[in-house]
Amino acid sequence: MKTQRVLTGITTSGTPHLGNYVGAIRPTVRASRLAEVESFYFLADYHALIKVGEPARVQRSTLEIAATWLACGLDPERVTFYRQSDIPEIPELTWFLTCVTGKGVLNRAHAYKASVDKNNAANEDPDAGVTAGLFMYPVLMAADILMFNAHQVPVGRDQIQHIEMARDIAASFNHLYGEHFTMPEAAIEANVATLPGLDGRKMSKSYDNTIPLFVPREQLKKLIMGIVTDSRAPGEPKSTDGSALFQLYQAFASANETAALAKAYADGIAWGEVKQALFERLDQEIAPLRAVYDELIQEPARIEKTLLAGAEKARAIATPFTARLRHAVGLRPLQATTTATAAKVGKGAVPSFKQYREQDGQFYFKLLDAQGTLLLQSTGFAAPRDAAQAMAQLQREGITALESLSDRLSARGDAAAVAAALEFFSKPAA
Ligand code: TRP
Repeated sequence: MKTQRVLTGITTSGTPHLGNYVGAIRPTVRASRLAEVESFYFLADYHALIKVGEPARVQRSTLEIAATWLACGLDPERVTFYRQSDIPEIPELTWFLTCVTGKGVLNRAHAYKASVDKNNAANEDPDAGVTAGLFMYPVLMAADILMFNAHQVPVGRDQIQHIEMARDIAASFNHLYGEHFTMPEAAIEANVATLPGLDGRKMSKSYDNTIPLFVPREQLKKLIMGIVTDSRAPGEPKSTDGSALFQLYQAFASANETAALAKAYADGIAWGEVKQALFERLDQEIAPLRAVYDELIQEPARIEKTLLAGAEKARAIATPFTARLRHAVGLRPLQATTTATAAKVGKGAVPSFKQYREQDGQFYFKLLDAQGTLLLQSTGFAAPRDAAQAMAQLQREGITALESLSDRLSARGDAAAVAAALEFFSKPAA
């Protein structure tokens, strides 16, 4: 099986909270330790500009989120850990994707639609206060994902629509320009996708109900004591359903611990005791991470260095891939050989040989890759049979035939690409 590529980003617009930790950071750090995955984790600071107009806050949040990821055990040697804005290929890809994205598709994106609905409700112009950045958000996110051909994208449920859009956008691009992009899938953590916040609604910056991941112990305790409960008195049986405290506990505790708490609810445990238990359980997991975080946050230069090294790794993929995409869409050196039919190759495209006759009356062939890029170009043959024989020899013998045919080839593409295409023909069909 091919190595699975897992990719996710966090927008650098705030301070990481328990919801981010449980929903994104913890599961992805765990997954990054599995042998069969190749992980890409990044700080989505271009995304931050959509919501945050305060430069200092973007910078601070980037530092905090980077330190959080590292403190939670992300190993930058093992994964590719980078900052979105260190990869200039991403805005370039965003533009390529913008040009194959239906405006109507973006009209239906949740974040944009919510703003429009709010304006409509307030009898405002539908687009009042809506930036084009907010409108384009799903395309930038698609570029993040498609740039690295991620298979799995761990995200919260609110982001599923964006992954679906990334798939649609990838499919449109592939349809038009050949199979360049892998279809990504959203990966949702089964049990604990979303956490409740202090007021019982989903924990979210926009509700201002978050519990920051790395507040000092005493402050964590205070926040937990402030979580809403119903008014059942000690001794009264309590329902775990819809209990924010229970859901939070469950996100940190083992199955056995959770079952024990459920029993305590039925037996009428007091809310104050639940809060104490939750606090202890949370702090047990967080305290060691907090110690590392507190150290790291004092060393921004060290984190900067880590991110720059990560960007180098990411660009080792992004730079050549973008070059290939530029070529695919037609942003090419003017002397590069073009093939009129190259663009429209559908799904499952494979390399192909084409034989044809030129104005000079001679017979030629060429080898194209799955995207229609020219890999081999023959010189002219007087008889079609001779051209066909040379093609057959290449198909049979693969790259070993290149040597003996060298004076019949006038142009050759990238050696690795030629080898890969010829191998396709010389291998017996499975
Ligand atoms: N939009 C995501 C969020 O707010 C963050 C993000 C940006 C992201 N680009 C991404 C997540 C690509 C996954 C993959 O949560």
